[in-house]
Amino acid sequence: TTNHLRHVELLTTLPSGAGEISPLNAVILGEALASEEDDLIFSNKEFSNKAHVSSPQKYLEMYKRSIVDSAGFWSDIASQFYWKQRWDEHCVYSENLDVRNGDIRIQWFKGGVTNICYNALDTNIQAGLGDKTAFFWEGNDLGQDATLTFSQLLNKVCQLANYLKDIGVKKGDAVVIYLPMLMELPIAMLACARIGAVHSVVFVGFSSESLSQRIMDCKPKAVITCNAVRRGSKVLNLKNIVDAALAESTNNGVSIDVCLTCENQSAMTRETTKWQIDRDVWWQDIVSKYPTTCEVEWVDAEDPLFLLYTSGSTGKPKGVLHTTGGYMIYTATTFKYAFDYKPSDIYWCTADCGWITGHSYVTYGPLLNGSTVVIFEGAPNYPDSGRCWDIVDKYKVTLFYTAPTLFVNRYSRKSLRVLGSVGEPINPSAWRWFYNVVGDSRCPISDTWLQTETGGFMITPLPGTWPQKPGSVTFPFFGVLPIIVDEKGNEIEGECSGYLCIRNSWPGAFRTLYGDHERYETTYFKPFPGYYYSGDGCSRDKDGYHWLTGRVDDVINVSGHRIGIAEIESALVSHRQCAEAAVVGVEHEVDLSPAYLYRLLDFTDLILKMDDLIFSNKDFIDLKNGGSNSKSYLIVIGGAEVPSGRRLVSLDVFRGLTVALMILVDDAGGFLPSINHSPWNGVTLADFV
Ligand code: WT7
Repeated sequence: TTNHLRHVELLTTLPSGAGEISPLNAVILGEALASEEDDLIFSNKEFSNKAHVSSPQKYLEMYKRSIVDSAGFWSDIASQFYWKQRWDEHCVYSENLDVRNGDIRIQWFKGGVTNICYNALDTNIQAGLGDKTAFFWEGNDLGQDATLTFSQLLNKVCQLANYLKDIGVKKGDAVVIYLPMLMELPIAMLACARIGAVHSVVFVGFSSESLSQRIMDCKPKAVITCNAVRRGSKVLNLKNIVDAALAESTNNGVSIDVCLTCENQSAMTRETTKWQIDRDVWWQDIVSKYPTTCEVEWVDAEDPLFLLYTSGSTGKPKGVLHTTGGYMIYTATTFKYAFDYKPSDIYWCTADCGWITGHSYVTYGPLLNGSTVVIFEGAPNYPDSGRCWDIVDKYKVTLFYTAPTLFVNRYSRKSLRVLGSVGEPINPSAWRWFYNVVGDSRCPISDTWLQTETGGFMITPLPGTWPQKPGSVTFPFFGVLPIIVDEKGNEIEGECSGYLCIRNSWPGAFRTLYGDHERYETTYFKPFPGYYYSGDGCSRDKDGYHWLTGRVDDVINVSGHRIGIAEIESALVSHRQCAEAAVVGVEHEVDLSPAYLYRLLDFTDLILKMDDLIFSNKDFIDLKNGGSNSKSYLIVIGGAEVPSGRRLVSLDVFRGLTVALMILVDDAGGFLPSINHSPWNGVTLADFV
């Protein structure tokens, strides 16, 4: 605690003068800005006065308590939720994050018995929100939409929960969900949670190999999918991908009895869907026959809620396991404060439920708060790049949460109140664009830092609380003690730059890597003993603001999504014309657009693109024909904010071999500027041959 206290002091004496906003404001506005660090943006008084955390002082007060009396702070919040049985007051959480002191076994609210689905739906309905809209669903094509109230959502969740129970899914069993952004996706998650089953959502951009790998790892009782999805003008036949994945798993001794398939008529009819009669079941035919009420399976706070696989720099994907109680409290609380949520808000998060952002901030966090959520099936640039603003205006979205990217400016967007950003460091000019253009200089921006492993936001602005600095994630959320260490693991203080670690336990933390607790400790707790290691670089400025600098391991961050180089490499070598692949990341100022991201993640499509771009490219053909080595190496350039030094070192390894250079193109078919970007400046194809 002494250490913790000292830390709070360090963090909370900063930023200098933040307590007296007016004088500081005058100084800042009166002077030319010296640097990004001195670029403070103040939220307007009216906004701050109504905000949950209305001033830096209020934050400091709450933050101090959250660190000094973590147990009390979180118990008070947890008490506002429904618990069938209260947790053990003497042991609200387990403290050890130090491998030298024994195993890492994080626990929160041990002994407590609850259910997250019950807290997200039943309690809100009991509180009078039954007729409130839970979901506004917007389809890929204009004019396709639907809504569900909280009561209707509960009915649908119960029907599916009853069906799952009927086919033998029990508490603790895994269920793999491979669905696009239909309402059935959160419905399936909630149905699993209701009966204590462990969901594992796999993003539909992932290939059949990735899907089968995940199926073989967690051995689910059932797989839930749909026949197809339209994304932009393209149809993705998901059922074929699932079929291939299930065949592959069966070959490896993991066979799945039930594949519940939702018919997505707008993309593909039943008749054209391939079917395996003894295994496949149409959702529409069966689920609606089940009763609309379903008893809740009460679970222990530490019972698993879900598995979500994330890329590592080596080896197979890691099955990040989250449990029930702490995750529930943490996602609900971070949602409430980071977006300054009020009951009248309409909230839209553009993330897919296949990522942690979608778990915590499409499904659980918002619903636990009784929020109305917009769910969008399509691509942000279809039918044109104004689609997002079209949706904002259509549903009068007040809280808009997305990955940093560029859009055109039209439509009114008057409804917007708070903007959120996630997934990658946002550069100050993009920040300004988001703030000035999208938010009309009126909406605070919550640049939220989180990871699959953290469950929820760890460092984030609170709207209306702090002066903001474009590009900075600002200060830690309640109960989080971030520290920066050098390569030897020594904590560094003051203005500094190094590896971002967390020195204490927070309720939303993941508890293990499924089936591999040793890898959990090795990856996250051994690099810098005593701390959780994030894998991100970070600096802290003179005012205590935090600036994320990107991944420091071999993982590429593309539009905010981590993809292991190994995964891209294996996708590439699965192509008949590719003997070997070496993937390197290159820092990129603007990053790829989210629309492009979908295509990048859709590896089949990526390979098609290779055909279009590379194999029809005369240079490459010449290179191939003239090359003395029969192997072709592909270097994929893309992604953002990958520290470049290490990449260039690894490039040297490939010198002397025949290397082909693959350049990703943007949506307009133009080359991304990465090739001109330092350190690639002046590098040409010839350099690799
Ligand atoms: C990694 C986590 C879609 C977002 C969740 C993806 C990076 C996340 C920020 C931010 C700078 C960020 C980090 C982190 N990241 N948020 N606000 N500023 N970088 O979850 O796939 O587990 O990736 O995303 O590098 O480690 P994920």
